[in-house]
Amino acid sequence: MAYKINNLQEYQTEYAASVENPEAFWAKQADRFQWKKKWDSVLDWNFSEPDVKWFSGGQLNISENCLDRHLKDKGDKVAFFWEPNEPSETGRAITYKQLHTEVCRFSNVLKSLGAKKGERICIYMPMIPEVVVAVLACARIGAIHSVVFAGFSASSLTDRINDAKADLVITSDGSFRGNKTIAIKDIVDDALENSPGVKNVIVYKRTGQPVKMKSSRDLWWNELVEKASAEHKAEAVESEDPLFILYTSGSTGKPKGVVHTTAGYMVYSEYSFSNVFQCEKNSIYWSTADIGWITGHTYIVYGPLLAGVTSVLFEGIPTHPTPSRFWEVVDKYKVTHFYTAPTAIRSLMACGLEHVTPYKLESLKVLGSVGEPINEEAWHWYDDYVGKNNCPIVDTWWQTETGGILISPLAGITKTKPSYATLPLPGIQPVIVDSEGQELEGNDVEGNLCIKFPWPSILRTTYGDHERCRQTYFSTYKNLYFTGDGCRRDEDGYYRILGRVDDVINVSGHRMGTAEVENAINEDEAVIESAVVGYPHDIKGQGIYAFVICEDFDQDHDKIRQSILATVTRIIGPIAKPDKVQIVRGLPKTRSGKIMRRILRKIAEGDVFNLGDISTLLDPGVVEEIKKGALVTL
Ligand code: WT7
Repeated sequence: MAYKINNLQEYQTEYAASVENPEAFWAKQADRFQWKKKWDSVLDWNFSEPDVKWFSGGQLNISENCLDRHLKDKGDKVAFFWEPNEPSETGRAITYKQLHTEVCRFSNVLKSLGAKKGERICIYMPMIPEVVVAVLACARIGAIHSVVFAGFSASSLTDRINDAKADLVITSDGSFRGNKTIAIKDIVDDALENSPGVKNVIVYKRTGQPVKMKSSRDLWWNELVEKASAEHKAEAVESEDPLFILYTSGSTGKPKGVVHTTAGYMVYSEYSFSNVFQCEKNSIYWSTADIGWITGHTYIVYGPLLAGVTSVLFEGIPTHPTPSRFWEVVDKYKVTHFYTAPTAIRSLMACGLEHVTPYKLESLKVLGSVGEPINEEAWHWYDDYVGKNNCPIVDTWWQTETGGILISPLAGITKTKPSYATLPLPGIQPVIVDSEGQELEGNDVEGNLCIKFPWPSILRTTYGDHERCRQTYFSTYKNLYFTGDGCRRDEDGYYRILGRVDDVINVSGHRMGTAEVENAINEDEAVIESAVVGYPHDIKGQGIYAFVICEDFDQDHDKIRQSILATVTRIIGPIAKPDKVQIVRGLPKTRSGKIMRRILRKIAEGDVFNLGDISTLLDPGVVEEIKKGALVTL
């Protein structure tokens, strides 16, 4: 088992050691893994280009560390209990040995189709064991996986396939989600109309629904695997070879492909997983995230497998067939560690206690939260009714770009405080800066959250556009990685994340750029211009409020709204649908033509009487009109 911190004093000692001599500290962590060749240098870095290299000169394979490394002692241990969407369907238990065999077979399939080290492979799949097989097989042959959340539209999928220049797509015929059956393969077919670079599509049969198979391009997973050998020697890759690309939204432009590399990501995902969750030999860990997000990558696939833990993999949604599903599954598998998002907690809270109290939940030892700030009410509900005041809650703060959890309690070790992510993990050096970039030292300060020293799983670049990476994260403040989050460090030195300070909104834990949603809305025929802001939403954390100028203000507003929702679903996917659409005649702009979002944010929050100074507006009159319309929309 991995090295684990056991108490607060050890945490403090380890933290101090990690700051004093980061190289010695991380070399010690890296030593636990299987290397085909040891590294020459632990760390080389600068944040100005940026150029960060961990464990240079080393060679390894992460899938070998997830699987082969455990076969001797844990071959028969269950890696995943798979729980299907319908409780009536029989689940599956997959041991480390079985997963190893499946990954080897599928690696041979990929090789047989000509996939090579360094090539990009796109994965668009539901939450079934085969998605884990696909991810690990890519890693095993040294290909770069780009998993796209299967709720994204065909057009989003096209953008991601083309940006990554992927020539192979792995998908399924359909997927089951709640009481819906989604025609995943049809979406892929639509996407590929505009992705001529894709040579093959591998299709796993999940729902059995009819699909069109394009001969010479589309191949059935099952048929390929049957013929494939179960022997596969993992490819040696360099420490800094890319492991995956994962697209995420920023404040401007299209989503960017965050690139994580192999060795540093491996070391940090295992280290953070082991120390934050504190799983033991017989723990049953369950993260309810989707593989399409970074939580699915680091804390469903890599972290738990590197640590040799048993996990639950869940295909469905929290409310199907009833809002008791999570608790039913916890009792069924005797889950000890449960990791979910505040939005899920809030929506289950709203369904009523009668869905929770009939369940024992006595196996639970640790609860986790991720994706957005957790409000105190939800924190207490989670603590009282799920944890029965007996399970520490780890409120884990991190980002797609950070690869792993940076600020969080260590379960059972760090004293928790509702809504606080508490303290940085060893190796993480957070600083809070004011708007001028001046570091605010000491406690009881508030400002923008930055990190001043690299950790092993920091992003290395944004795919195909290194300058964008520099601009977005490393140019705001000199020699600092800027997170985009506001943060308070309280009198005890505890960190509380206050939410984004840029034009990124967080809707049900899904990150979205306001510009991205605006661009989608603007695709609608009726629309001339739009401005999108976030506003507080009881369940989703933030909701999407769109102010829209149309060709003809006097058209039926409801009809326009419906059309806009359909357009956004088509361009991005249902997760980006605005909660409120207000048709306006004008937007508040400065004389230089810049939209004053501050004013729109206030209006969206319902705070129409505190708009502050609007004298710099080109036409202050539009504000009055928007205010009136907002009272109807709110
Ligand atoms: C943004 C990153 C990290 C995996 C899921 C989201 C917000 C994330 C917390 C938390 C407060 C949080 C931040 C961050 N966020 N975790 N525990 N408390 N805010 O990853 O899509 O890259 O989004 O989510 O604003 O910047 P992501």
